[in-house]
Amino acid sequence: MTATQTNLEYWQQYGKHVLMAMPYADEILVEASGSTLRDANGRTLVDLASGMFCCVLGHNHPKFIERITQQTRSLLHTGTQFLSPPVLEAGFKLAQVAPGALEKCIFMSTGTEANEFAFRLAKAYTGRTGIVGFSRGYYGTSVATKSCSSLFSHHLKDSLPVVPENRCLPISTRCLPCFTDAVHPPCGFPCLDDVDGWIGDWDNVAAVIVEPVLSAGGMLFPPTGYLKRLRTIAHEHGALLIVDEAQTGFGRTGRWFAIEHHDVEPDILSLSKSIGNGFPTAAVVTTAEIADRVISGGLWNLSSHQSDPVSAAAVCAVIDIVREEGLLDRGRESGIYFLEQLQALAARQPAVASVRGLGLMIGFDLVVDNSPDAARLVNAFMYVCRRRGVHLTYGYGDTNVRIIPPLVITRSEIDFAVDVMEQSLADVLANRGADASLPVNPYTRRLVDKHPWGQLLRRWWHSSPQEWVQKGSGLIRKRLGVAD
Ligand SMILES: Cc1ncc(COP(=O)(O)O)c(C=O)c1O
Repeated sequence: MTATQTNLEYWQQYGKHVLMAMPYADEILVEASGSTLRDANGRTLVDLASGMFCCVLGHNHPKFIERITQQTRSLLHTGTQFLSPPVLEAGFKLAQVAPGALEKCIFMSTGTEANEFAFRLAKAYTGRTGIVGFSRGYYGTSVATKSCSSLFSHHLKDSLPVVPENRCLPISTRCLPCFTDAVHPPCGFPCLDDVDGWIGDWDNVAAVIVEPVLSAGGMLFPPTGYLKRLRTIAHEHGALLIVDEAQTGFGRTGRWFAIEHHDVEPDILSLSKSIGNGFPTAAVVTTAEIADRVISGGLWNLSSHQSDPVSAAAVCAVIDIVREEGLLDRGRESGIYFLEQLQALAARQPAVASVRGLGLMIGFDLVVDNSPDAARLVNAFMYVCRRRGVHLTYGYGDTNVRIIPPLVITRSEIDFAVDVMEQSLADVLANRGADASLPVNPYTRRLVDKHPWGQLLRRWWHSSPQEWVQKGSGLIRKRLGVAD
């Protein structure tokens, strides 16, 4: 597609109507192919985030586009009551690649929806209502999924209720090295001895949900044996194990699913993002035993886009193309190469630390002694990389960089990306990237403007004055010892 305007012109003409729910990038994307994005100014970016960690096959893979276009022409939507050939085929193909006894599939649209349904399955099967996640896990945007995690809880605290039965397991600072350092000696997981203390009452826990790589939580890789032990503990207490492979599924870590590296069979597998390669698609896969019991118990589910034929055609196409093009091997090999290049960068540049990865799920930390503001450093690094032609993201903790490119990324793209990272880091550390690290479009600029007075005013503006009055009077009452 040819853009009719520049990035800034688009912002100037239409920005007023954008609900700025996040600090959107200056670049207005018009086209993508493989690992490359192109913006309205005609500039290209190497995409180290696969869109929103979705595009395992790369953007606009021609065979993939052909398959979903064909399906769109013949049958776009059926309604929940009907099945169609692609839905039936997708279940068959998914059961072939899914680990262990997982064989019953249902198709949906988003990761949040899949996790919500996984929770329903676990609750219906166990007759319990609580779900346990990791405090640094990320499971979606609904109240239930957010209540299993502490990420972004500063947004949650004042704006949403929480599900009281849901709990979070912490990964303590003492345990972090086990999750970020592949050569860390096995420690016997004393952290898991404390699990009962964190969970309290297991009697009402229906399931524990885990990501085999905690991406948003800081690119944390559970050490060998950890997830297996957690599954045993969950089962001993009558709870199920839900494995969320939104980002890690379909080859990201060199195998169909990252959980295969842990020799753990999930009771329920939640899939999204990667299985649709950018088309909104999600799935939940479970065992016949669990499915049969909950269905005979009366569970049913109805959602407008459940069993949509195009989403299912996307799943079939991704499985076929990953197989035909040997992308598990290719991703694994490219992952090793990328990791080696980053380790070499770490040897030249001490600010790059704890380079870690599995296949093409790679992370590292930016560590600068005496840096007063690590968050600003990583944010500036991300912006300067983007200005130089590489798009990457960072996760919780604000020091870790995430690299999750399509499985088809080429060696020259990897070399280019590492080069850009090196130059950008040098600029940022020398404070030369100050200008480049600020967005140009006025709407995002306003959001990220870090002026303390501006921040204070914005916080005031975003919270209701009524709430401030309530909080104030609550404090006064507490001081005076007056009951509410
Ligand atoms: C591991 C994981 N689970 C669930 C979700 C939620 O998926 P969605 O944004 O499609 O609702 C995400 C999204 O980033 C995720 O990374």
